[in-house]
Amino acid sequence: LGPNDLDGVRLVVSAGGTREPIDSVRVIANRSSGKQGYAVAAEALARGASVTIVSTVSLPTPPGAVVVPVETAAEMHAAMNAAADDHDVVVMAAAVADFRPASAATGKIKKRDGVPEIVLEPTPDILAGLGENKRAGQVLVGFAAETDDLIANATSKLEKKRLDLIVANDVGAPEVGFAHDTNAVTLLRPDAKPVEIDLAAKRDVARAVIDTIVDIRRTR
Ligand code: C5P
Repeated sequence: LGPNDLDGVRLVVSAGGTREPIDSVRVIANRSSGKQGYAVAAEALARGASVTIVSTVSLPTPPGAVVVPVETAAEMHAAMNAAADDHDVVVMAAAVADFRPASAATGKIKKRDGVPEIVLEPTPDILAGLGENKRAGQVLVGFAAETDDLIANATSKLEKKRLDLIVANDVGAPEVGFAHDTNAVTLLRPDAKPVEIDLAAKRDVARAVIDTIVDIRRTR
């Protein structure tokens, strides 16, 4: 495992939280900072990969990466589906909204009109779709933010979404996950023992994720 072990490999990673419009000025958002996704991108670049970041945030672009800016789950869906066609490794590190307003109001909803009722509809599960359409040899990686039954819930997502790796983090623990610079995760693969990464910088978590991706590609 070292600097050139992803030479010639194309990796796409999604990063940040989606924003779903309520009207022309308001959105439903989440607390994802995009830092873990960008750390995966930076580590993959350092290991020789060509990297695309499908991003909802404006963090500094790691030198050499191509950034595809998106805002909504629908935009991220389209961008990830397009990218999956020509990328060998697909990582969904973004926090995608599970629900969005069924329709966004045109203009700004006025306070004087009273409290609005916002009807929600589910968003497409981007990662599950990528799993259904996975090409031979492609490596598909998901993240799972859990507050309880971490291993059981993440294992079920690993299977249902046909992933090669899921990075599970206990977002209920201190200093972990959203908006922090550190993370503590468990790496789960089909038919392999879980690997725990204790509280570490997001770049160190990214290194462990990339190490595992390299191992998955080698053991095929
Ligand atoms: O099922 P859950 O949302 O917990 O799964 C998390 C994983 O699925 C993450 O990798 C996330 O990026 C992805 N996801 C997705 N589309 C959604 C919801 C989650 O791709 N609508």
